[in-house]
Amino acid sequence: MKIVVVGSGGREHALADVLARHHEVTVTPGNAGIANSTDVTAEELVAGGGVDLVVVGPEAPLVDGLADRLRAAGVRVFGPGADGARLEGSKEFMKEVASAAGLPTARYGAFDDPDEAIAFLGTLPGPWVVKTDGLAAGKGVLVTEDLTAAESDVRDKLSGDAFGDAGRKVVVEEGLSGPEVSVFLVCDGTTAVALPAAQDFKRVGDGDTGPNTGGMGAWCPLPFISDGFEAEIVETFAEPTLAELRRRGIDYRGVLYAGFMLTDDGPKLLEYNVRFGDPDSQPVLVRMTSDLGALLAAAADGDLASAPAPTFADDAAVLVVAASEGYPIAPRTGDRIDGLDESRGVEGVTVFCAGVKRGSDDGTLETAGGRVLNVLGRGPDVATARARAYEATARISWPGMHYRHDIAGS
Ligand code: AMP
Ligand code: GLY
Repeated sequence: MKIVVVGSGGREHALADVLARHHEVTVTPGNAGIANSTDVTAEELVAGGGVDLVVVGPEAPLVDGLADRLRAAGVRVFGPGADGARLEGSKEFMKEVASAAGLPTARYGAFDDPDEAIAFLGTLPGPWVVKTDGLAAGKGVLVTEDLTAAESDVRDKLSGDAFGDAGRKVVVEEGLSGPEVSVFLVCDGTTAVALPAAQDFKRVGDGDTGPNTGGMGAWCPLPFISDGFEAEIVETFAEPTLAELRRRGIDYRGVLYAGFMLTDDGPKLLEYNVRFGDPDSQPVLVRMTSDLGALLAAAADGDLASAPAPTFADDAAVLVVAASEGYPIAPRTGDRIDGLDESRGVEGVTVFCAGVKRGSDDGTLETAGGRVLNVLGRGPDVATARARAYEATARISWPGMHYRHDIAGS
């Protein structure tokens, strides 16, 4: 197949790489570190003919209806329409669907009035969670043990200054605790196939310290997940969700990225995103031994039953994100990246490029964003995969580069 991948980050680099094992892939807009990147838009590429499948990477174009426009142009698309993308675009909508579908999730209320939100906070035992309703690039969530801090966060978020339209409403939730895991559910509107669970490391600093980020590392498979966990997730979460969406007239064809907290009472759903996680899907996707393109095309056709169940290598993958100085608060860009080729020389290592651009002296790359490179090590076990990822990361440098040292254990 000829496949177009939409997006420009590490997730799209990994998707393109894995899809290219069986298919011809173009990435739009891609980045300077991804082969076959083009500035021609997906809509233009599709209009040119010959495209068999479009895979939309990020949430923003999905929320904006790109999948609907491409489907209207007659092309097969993996990614939900704007109606389904509201699961990520509105936390209130996601919680409504979760309640209607009877999914285990945190108790919540959605409010545009600060006094009502604060009154509801007072009925919860704490810790307390305050979220902006709309997309806030991973920065709209406060989890706190301090009720006063939660109350002032409600007022800040609803003042409209901090998040613009995304902050018009807040969702207030009971705080849960336990390890967090990500499960990617490939959906065809009716049924779902779960990929092996992965874990993301969201705080910027070692030992889960410092501010939240888009993700500083990830690993898969997870030794603390039991056999049958993903099948349970399909049955308890994915299928009821797809049924509830269908009841609302939504034919969800794309990936449901379910974020869970593994509480003492079992897995509880924290969030749904409508795309693959970045970076957490990368160590999952690279381990796939079957044809990813065939799986996504079958989902896009509403016919997952026609694709063989995906298979995965019996190894481990550990990913370390190399970030630029100041990330996640104020990333500095424009620094020359040294050592990329040397890092790729480490056995079992692949480096996926995210925030990079072509440097002034053509052969090199420069930093162009907060999360710059995704250094992924594979090996027969976690310890080997991890050692390879860190050996390769240590070969890369630019002024102010930083990364976590405790991904997949210390
Ligand atoms: P979200 O954007 O909804 O995924 O929230 C971002 C992060 O906030 C999650 O990855 C969790 O670490 C944390 N979080 C969200 N909801 C809760 C909750 N109900 N209890 C505890 N932590 C939460
Ligand atoms: N790694 C978190 C996300 O993709 O949202």
